[in-house]
Amino acid sequence: MLKIAVMVSGGGTNLQAIMDAIQDHKITDTTITAVISNNADAYALERARNAGIPAVCVSRKEIPDRDAYNKALLDAVDASGADLIVLAGFLVVIPTEMIQKYRNRIINIHPSLIPSFCGTGYYGLKVHEGVLSRGVKVTGATVHFVDEGTDTGPIILQKAVAVEEGDTPQILQRRVMEQAEWQLLPQAIDLIAHDRVVVEDGLAHIR
Ligand code: GRF
Repeated sequence: MLKIAVMVSGGGTNLQAIMDAIQDHKITDTTITAVISNNADAYALERARNAGIPAVCVSRKEIPDRDAYNKALLDAVDASGADLIVLAGFLVVIPTEMIQKYRNRIINIHPSLIPSFCGTGYYGLKVHEGVLSRGVKVTGATVHFVDEGTDTGPIILQKAVAVEEGDTPQILQRRVMEQAEWQLLPQAIDLIAHDRVVVEDGLAHIR
């Protein structure tokens, strides 16, 4: 049984997609042991509590010192007993110590086709604003392992989504979630739960 901790900052629709996929047996042999948020007001925490999943908040406001905060975050992850950490809209930079300790055991969903529209500054709506201002016709989402860089780790899954005439960043964000993110993240977790993802020479392969 794969134990996962899901880290969130906001609405938690990706968390919801994971919970639904477990319920619907689209993800099997997997259990969510904790939902961890940096934001006490995140609706994701409520989704977790409603589903009876332990929900914890590690708030930067309460722990202003960066090192102390990083330690508290790592402690929360360790306490969850998770084998895999899933970043589902988590807006805090992952401490290096956590990356090293959980090498190739942290995955992130990014709402573009990496290596486009990713890296520092590309988060949330800014990704979709970048897509629209460049005029690309295809965007999408990527699930990748987290390494020391920003959105640079081994790519596990990607799915393309069409950009349409008249899109606003909000409309495009919603389409990328509906058509890509909510499918891709559960799919990646299920593959990992069944040992189907291997990393070799910095690249992820599905076997
Ligand atoms: C998603 O677009 C995700 O790709 C991005 O942040 C958003 C999180 O949304 N990193 P939600 O909290 O899962 O609804």
